[in-house]
Amino acid sequence: MFAAYAARLSADDPLSALELGERPDPARREGWVTVRLRAAALNHHDLWSLRGVGLGEEQLPIVLGCDGAGVDEDGNDVIVHAVIGSDDFRGDETMDPKRSLLSERHDGTLADLVTVPRRNLVAKPTELSWAEAACLPTAWLTAYRMLFTQSGAQPGATVLVQGAGGGVSTALVALGRAAGYRMWVTSRDGQKRDRAVELGADAAFESGARLPERVDAVMETVGAATWDHSLKSLNQGGTVVVSGATGGAEAVSDLRRIFFLQLRIVGSTMGTRDELQRLVQFCLQTGVRPVVDASMPLEDAREGFAKLAGGDVFGKVVLTRAA
Ligand SMILES: NC(=O)c1ccc[n+]([C@@H]2O[C@H](COP(=O)([O-])OP(=O)(O)OC[C@H]3O[C@@H](n4cnc5c(N)ncnc54)[C@H](OP(=O)(O)O)[C@@H]3O)[C@@H](O)[C@H]2O)c1
Repeated sequence: MFAAYAARLSADDPLSALELGERPDPARREGWVTVRLRAAALNHHDLWSLRGVGLGEEQLPIVLGCDGAGVDEDGNDVIVHAVIGSDDFRGDETMDPKRSLLSERHDGTLADLVTVPRRNLVAKPTELSWAEAACLPTAWLTAYRMLFTQSGAQPGATVLVQGAGGGVSTALVALGRAAGYRMWVTSRDGQKRDRAVELGADAAFESGARLPERVDAVMETVGAATWDHSLKSLNQGGTVVVSGATGGAEAVSDLRRIFFLQLRIVGSTMGTRDELQRLVQFCLQTGVRPVVDASMPLEDAREGFAKLAGGDVFGKVVLTRAA
């Protein structure tokens, strides 16, 4: 099968570690199902993998990609849930200490075929295009869990999203707006701030700018570059939910602010299959759809990776396969 895969690791030049070409079809496994992919979406996770974050030389070569939608062996249109739990684990699979994401231990979705446990499939409604469906399992699911499961903020609350253009950021704005939160965003880029407002943000500020008032919750995926601002922006008893650290993982906190204002710092990773199913339903109920920045055939994946690595995105980059 044709695939985009990590052939080597390069911390400084991740695109040099990317190869496009033939890989073996997935082997059959008891209880697992093979899906013929119609679309897959890129995530920052794919760049981290090429840099060697969460991936060792001994796992190479490995097909990249966490997000995908396609047709299963019985002809059903499906969305692929990327969190692979262990067979004997029961409960919230994001809490399974042995879980992995597609493309960490098992070949991922940037390919003609992917094989996953049967329980990892969610039905794709016809109302969602292949591209839209392929955007949901990682960035959108992460945003859904951050906002609705982890933040504790209720509709009507004010929520700050750090970064405007990313897959997770655009998902947070769209979901929060549709659910009745007051959504504020920051971005380093004026055009992205304007686009965030077009997407539904109530206000957009320059990264690090003083806000007109404190917020109830902050959604953090940037990390060190915005962490101090996130804590300073929170109301008494407010919550920062953190799921990523694109701008650096080593951040310093003033502990006095955390205990005196009784702030909550909550980690969040991906989401459960049930949350993915509810996210699909949320899209149907509200009409919200993922923001697709660019769509191109899988053969042109290098162009998509370059866009993501350059930070030149507003929404998701989707890679398509013909039927
Ligand atoms: N824990 C999980 O399960 C999970 C799931 C999905 C994603 N993540 C992580 O979340 C992060 C975002 O993922 P993504 O796919 O949305 O990535 P992305 O599309 O590359 O987004 C990057 C975002 O970070 C902002 N940004 C980057 N560097 C910055 C800096 N120095 N200062 C201020 N803002 C900066 C950008 O904002 P502007 O360009 O608008 O300023 C943009 O919104 C990644 O680190 C990813 O690994 C984690």
